[in-house]
Amino acid sequence: MSSRLSFQMGLIGLMAAAYVVTDARPAAAQGYDGAGQFRVYCAVCHGDGGTGNGPLAESMRVKPADLTAITRNNKGTFPTNDVFRMIDGRNPVKGHGGPDMPVWGDAFARSGQDASPDAVRGRIEALVRYLERLQKP
Ligand code: HEC
Repeated sequence: MSSRLSFQMGLIGLMAAAYVVTDARPAAAQGYDGAGQFRVYCAVCHGDGGTGNGPLAESMRVKPADLTAITRNNKGTFPTNDVFRMIDGRNPVKGHGGPDMPVWGDAFARSGQDASPDAVRGRIEALVRYLERLQKP
C-alpha cells in the first residue's frame, strides 16, 4: 500500500472514531461520571435522589432546591444552559443558586484534579446531563 493511501485510510479511521464518540454525547462531558459526582458533591444538600432532603438540608437557612422539579418549574423544558450556569455559579442566573449554593466552577477550578477550563466544563456538563435524567414529569 502506498504511504499516501495508508495516510488517507488512517484519516478516515480517525474521522469514523470521532463520529462515533461525538455521536454518543458532546465531547466535554466525556469521562466524567455525572452520577458519581452528584453523590460526592451534591447529595449532602440535595439528597441522593436530588429532591432537596440531604443530611445538611435540615440545618440550612435556605433549603436546597428540589432538582427533580427543574423542568416542571420551567414550563416543561429543561433549561440546559441555565442549569449549567447555576451549577458553575461564576455567571449567576438571577434568582437561582444564591449564596447558599456553592460556586462549583471555582471549586472544580481549584480542585487537585485536572483544573483546566475544559475539565471544569466537562465536569459541569456531566452533572447537567445527570440532572436532566432526574427530572420528574
Ligand atoms: C451546601 C449545600 C449545597 C451543595 C453541596 C449543593 N447545593 Fe445546589 N443548591 C443549594 C441551595 C441552598 C440551593 C437553593 C439556592 C437558592 O434558592 O438561593 C441550591 C440550588 C441549586 C440549583 C438551582 C435549582 C433551581 O431550580 O433553582 C441547582 C441546579 C443546584 N443547586 C445544583 C447543585 C449541584 C449539581 C451540586 C453538586 C455539584 C449542588 N447543587 C451542591 C445548596 C447546595
